Formats: sequence, structure tokens, C-alpha cells
Amino acid sequence: MASFDAIIIGAGPGGYVCAIRAAQLGLNVAVVEGRDTLGGTCLNVGCIPSKALLHATHSLHEVHENFEKMGLMGGAPKVDWGRMQSYKSDVVAGNTKGIEFLFKKNKVTWLKGWATIPAPGKVQVGTEVHEAKHIVIATGSEPSSLPGVTVDEMTIVTSTGALTLPQIPKSMVVIGAGVIGLEMGSVYARLGTSVTVVEYLDAITPGMDAEVAKAFERILKKQGLKFILGAAVQKVEAGSSGATVTYKSRKTDAEASLDAEVVLVATGRKPYTAGLGLEALGVEMLPRGQVKTDAHYMTNVAGLYAIGDAIVGPMLAHKAEDEGMALAEIMAGKSGHVNYGVIPGVVYTSPEVASVGATEEQLKEQGRAYKVGKFPFMGNARAKAVFQADGFVKLLADAATDRILGAHIIGPAAGDLIHEVCVAMEFGASAQDLAMTCHAHPTYSEAVREAALACGDGAIHA
Ligand code: NAI
Repeated sequence: MASFDAIIIGAGPGGYVCAIRAAQLGLNVAVVEGRDTLGGTCLNVGCIPSKALLHATHSLHEVHENFEKMGLMGGAPKVDWGRMQSYKSDVVAGNTKGIEFLFKKNKVTWLKGWATIPAPGKVQVGTEVHEAKHIVIATGSEPSSLPGVTVDEMTIVTSTGALTLPQIPKSMVVIGAGVIGLEMGSVYARLGTSVTVVEYLDAITPGMDAEVAKAFERILKKQGLKFILGAAVQKVEAGSSGATVTYKSRKTDAEASLDAEVVLVATGRKPYTAGLGLEALGVEMLPRGQVKTDAHYMTNVAGLYAIGDAIVGPMLAHKAEDEGMALAEIMAGKSGHVNYGVIPGVVYTSPEVASVGATEEQLKEQGRAYKVGKFPFMGNARAKAVFQADGFVKLLADAATDRILGAHIIGPAAGDLIHEVCVAMEFGASAQDLAMTCHAHPTYSEAVREAALACGDGAIHA
């Protein structure tokens, strides 16, 4: 038995960041992780491996679409799926080992195994019971399938199985036009798979600014993805050479079905807290399975906290990381804070889609007076030079004060561009502040400045 200032359960982005920051602030910290490698879902079977496959297949797409235009002749390379998979695994291994190194550097103890909390202040791993003043639930989330659908991770897969398919399928049905469905759908479409996305709602990416979602759908269709919108999937049945997806049109009630070699179920995720013993401890939960916490991430049990996908809010690695850092500060007796109004969201397709703050629909709903500054990448010389001029930047600012309320970008490097708006919003900047900031030429970020200019006297290049 050992005694720690803090034991963190789960080594995903929430847990490992919390541990490192707490150790930096002088706490004696342990992390319990049952996987063979650190990093949680994000590093092992989520954000990082999917980015490797997105990069490899985007490169292939570039060869097909643009190389000849630039005088690069010689035809497209052959895809070696096995090697692409090893490249992906190497990327994952490099990152998970990096966390192990950081744990050593910061003297964070890794308790290998699965944790239970037998009593307040105690964490059991295997037969060992450890003590801690603070215990943090950072156990993340797991895919939530549909009722009646049995995932086998071979023919009917979640994102986990979709990352390691034994071969590139000829056809794939993706259930759910959310982030996972569109990122993984893009990977396989670029590899030649016929991809059909079936979505319950009438638009893709629910919650995204509608104008951006519409442009996104048009661009993805151009890339070969097919969409069936307003369709509720009823059942998925595995057969000898694939699976059949049956869905019902929400408008007409008509039933139809689709066959595919692989079906990807991407209908959301749910908090993963099973096996911790929370019920016996009397930990209060919310109706959708999240752990209930106060503003300082404390549950109703003193000294027991929760962060990340296990609590309310967007299921995003960086939201979990920020909560991890804030909680570490709180546990160290300082004040930790997360600004939930400025959490960016990024879809890593090509083009990327990124957003922060309010959508136009939300501002309308709030009855807020706002102005819109828009700038198309068609007016951005750099984007045009690299065949990435499809898309735009949309900035929303308060009509009276000019304060930036939100930004929505579809275009090259959108996931990086969004951060200058995040910083601006963090400082309560106006659109004019952004517009008056000198931006290097020729860069994609000039499009952000132009959108800010469009909130005032007008963009220059549009
Ligand atoms: P999601 O919640 O983003 O999308 C699920 C979609 O499935 C929704 O559009 C929903 O309307 C649809 N759906 C639900 N039931 C259906 C049915 N019966 N028939 C047809 N459509 C149905 O969930 P997703 O994509 O699985 O992602 C899970 C979580 O992981 C999300 O919170 C997401 O933000 C996060 N994530 C974030 C990434 C990023 O930031 N780049 C990458 C991957 C995941």
C-alpha cells in the first residue's frame, strides 16, 4: 500500500495532463491505467491514429488531384495497406512513449491495472489498496452503439475497428454524420471505398454553423461521399460478406436498406465509469450517465473529482486537458479555471472545419444583434496557389460593441487558424482589433483578418 496526494484514474488527455501539472505543482501523484500504453482513447485508438490515416490518405488524394497540375508526373503510388497501418502504429507508439517519458521526468507513478474505489480516499488496483487525499475520475468515454446493433469490430465496427480493418473495403455505410463518421468516411473514400453516410438529422454535423455545414456537405459530396439524410437506422444485420443497414425516412416513414462490406457505427459516445464502484460509494450521476460535479470538479463525495468525457460538456480531448490542468491547480490550493465559452472544435477532414464560440443560429435564438464578416478562400492568394480555395471564414461580432462572438472556418489549416480567434476572444477583442493586426502575406490567416475587416468597412480582396 502506498499513499499519494492525488491518484488519477485514467491516463487519457484529461488524466495525464492533470497528473503532470499536479506533479509540477509539488503533489505526489499516481495514475492508474489498465491499458498497456498511456494516452487513453485519444492517443491509442482515437485522435492520433485517425490523424495518421487522414494524413496518408490526404497525401494520396493530392497525388490524384493536383500533382499533374504542378508538373509532377509519374502516376499515383500503389497503396500498401499493411505499411500504412504500421506507419499509423509507429505514430501512436511515439506519442504514448512520450507520455511515459513525461511521467518519469515529472515523477508521476504509473499504477498498472484497473482501478476501483472501495471507499472514499482509497483506490484499489489488483490486490493493492492505495490511499490518496484527492482521487480523480478521468476514465473518458466509450462508443455508444444503437439498440439492437451488435458490434463485432470486423464487419460492424466502431471507430476502434475502423482504424484497423484487415483490408480496404469496397463499400462502407457510416451511421452518423458526426465528426467520427466524416473523418473515417473521408479516409476510406480517399482509398477508393464507396462510402454512404446515413444521418438521422436533415443536416450533417449537428450543432455546427448551418452555413458551414452546408458548404461542408457540398465539398464532401464532390469528394465522392454519398449522404442519406433524415434517415433513422433501424437495424444492422451481419451477413456472410458484409452487413445490411435498414433505415426509415423520417419524412415519409418509408423503409429502405443498404448493403456494405463494412458498417461503421458513429452515433456518439457515452461516459465510461463502469467498474469503478461509484454506485456503492453513492456518487451522484446525471441522467445521461455523466458524473455530477460542482464548479470545482468535486463530486458529492469529498475528495473525489471527475473531469473530461466522464462529466458534462463537449467530448473533446482539449476540453479534458484544460479541466485536468484547472483541477490540478485546485488540488494544489490555487484557483483553476476553464473558459467554456472559448473551446474550439475541429474536424480534421480536407478541408478542415473549425469553430469557436456561438453559431449564427445560436445568436438568432438568443435574439442578439450581431454582424457577420465573411471572406472566401477564393480571395486568398496562398490558398489558391495550393488548390485549397474552396471554403470561407465567417466571423460573428456583436452589432453594437463589435466584440467577437464566434468564428467558423472551412478551408485550409482551419484547425490552426481558429486559434487566433480563440486568443482574441479570450482577451475580449473586437473584430476591429483583429482587423488592425498585421498578418503576414501570403498566409491563410489573412483570410481571418479579411473576415474581421468585413465586419467593419469591408474586406480588401473580396
Ligand atoms: P457525434 O455526436 O458527433 O455524431 C453522431 C451522429 O449520429 C449525429 O449526427 C446523430 O444525429 C447521428 N445518429 C444518431 N443515431 C442515429 C441513427 N439511429 N441513425 C442515423 N444517424 C444517427 O458522434 P461521433 O461522431 O460518434 O463522435 C463521438 C464524440 O467524439 C463526439 O463528442 C465528438 O465530438 C468526439 N470526437 C471528436 C473529434 C474531433 O474533435 N476531431 C474526432 C472524433 C470524435
